[in-house]
Amino acid sequence: MKNIAVFASGNGSNFQAIIEAIQSGQLNANIQLFVSDKKKAYAIERAKKANIPHFVFTAKEYESKAAYEEAILEHLHEHNIDFIVLAGYMRLIGETLLRHYEGKIVNIHPSLLPAFPGKDAIGQAFDARVKVSGVTVHFVDAGMDTGPIIAQKAIEISDDESRESLQAKIHQVEHELYPAVLQKLLSSRG
Ligand code: GRF
Repeated sequence: MKNIAVFASGNGSNFQAIIEAIQSGQLNANIQLFVSDKKKAYAIERAKKANIPHFVFTAKEYESKAAYEEAILEHLHEHNIDFIVLAGYMRLIGETLLRHYEGKIVNIHPSLLPAFPGKDAIGQAFDARVKVSGVTVHFVDAGMDTGPIIAQKAIEISDDESRESLQAKIHQVEHELYPAVLQKLLSSRG
């Protein structure tokens, strides 16, 4: 079974969905480490409740991206992490982590990439008045939401949709799609 690390900067509802998918047997993986760049992230509480070791850092306290990623790397190695799962981690992954985990870092993004990359993808889609948006799971490269796409699910936006209702729909799809895609990906890797 693969050892995974989950990275999140905020609420962590996707992190929670992954924890629950493991508990229910839908996903065969061990979350051996949780990483956050925000001391106040609610996701840290979720890690504590689930007894998952966590490493929380403040980027400003390091000289460079390479320096904080070296610190992350030490924790990843200490916990024998095979695979990194980004779930609302609001930083670009740098060379240091990419070099060591090439092809082994995935992200979930709340739009049908390549449409609406970057921050507030749900708001961007809403403001653009598109009729279809969705969720993408993709491998991570050095760009902003640019890596090879693994899976996508479309969501229709109704005429009376509000930002909030769209957000709720997207999260619901994310919470089902991410664990299912991870299970496929991790089980195909032996
Ligand atoms: C999700 O919409 C995910 O697609 C994006 O960040 C959000 C994180 O939400 N990358 P949560 O913290 O998992 O609730």
